[in-house]
Amino acid sequence: MGRRGKLGDKGSRHDAAYRRAKSEGFASRAIYKLEEIDKRFRLLQPGRRVVDLGCWPGSWMQYAAERVGEDGFVVGLDKREVELALPTNAKAFVADVFAVDPADLVERFGDFNVVLSDMAPKTTGDRTTDMFRSEELTRRALGFATTVLRPGGHFCAKVFVGGGFKTLLADVGKSFSEVKPIHPKNTRSGSYEQYIVARGLKAGARTLDPGQAQDSSAEQ
Ligand SMILES: C[S@@+](CC[C@H](N)C(=O)[O-])C[C@H]1O[C@@H](n2cnc3c(N)ncnc32)[C@H](O)[C@@H]1O
Repeated sequence: MGRRGKLGDKGSRHDAAYRRAKSEGFASRAIYKLEEIDKRFRLLQPGRRVVDLGCWPGSWMQYAAERVGEDGFVVGLDKREVELALPTNAKAFVADVFAVDPADLVERFGDFNVVLSDMAPKTTGDRTTDMFRSEELTRRALGFATTVLRPGGHFCAKVFVGGGFKTLLADVGKSFSEVKPIHPKNTRSGSYEQYIVARGLKAGARTLDPGQAQDSSAEQ
């Protein structure tokens, strides 16, 4: 992996993963969690079209853009502005996911193959509140997935594990053929975050009005 942009996450602890990300030109150590998930589940392939929710400072966008290549496309949304220079097949927008209608993404860019979410709430120190807010973000990401993905598409989202986790997993399972919780090795020790990886959006699970779908063909 080559040297790419400037590093944005100055607040991160300078651990080994941080230093490695810095030396490899990635915006954040979060890259290695996506890399691990992608190697295991093969979510990102050349030509795929990806939505990345909570994309700042941009390392998942950097990784995804490289994996999908020139024929693919990555759209990122975050409340914060991504400052690094992204490749031409990636575009980041400043937006709160609760203020964006996912159907507008389809209208503007067409259907997608993959929805990623690394969104995390600002932590308050109160674990119950943080888990509740994290779950709300993950459910919002699921709403994006069932709207923008074409049938067969994939979904991967971070969540702070709490009391609602099993129900959340079951709810994701209603829309996808295969669902797995995973705890990447590169997650900081003591962290209670996990990722829900869901493959194969069921054809009947898409919530987008069929008239708005740009391409309802199956996953490539
Ligand atoms: C852990 S960071 C993402 C790191 C990113 N995956 C990377 O590799 O560079 C989590 C992000 O979620 C964003 N976020 C939290 N709530 C959001 C919301 N309601 N809408 C959009 N982004 C949100 C935060 O602004 C933050 O930048």
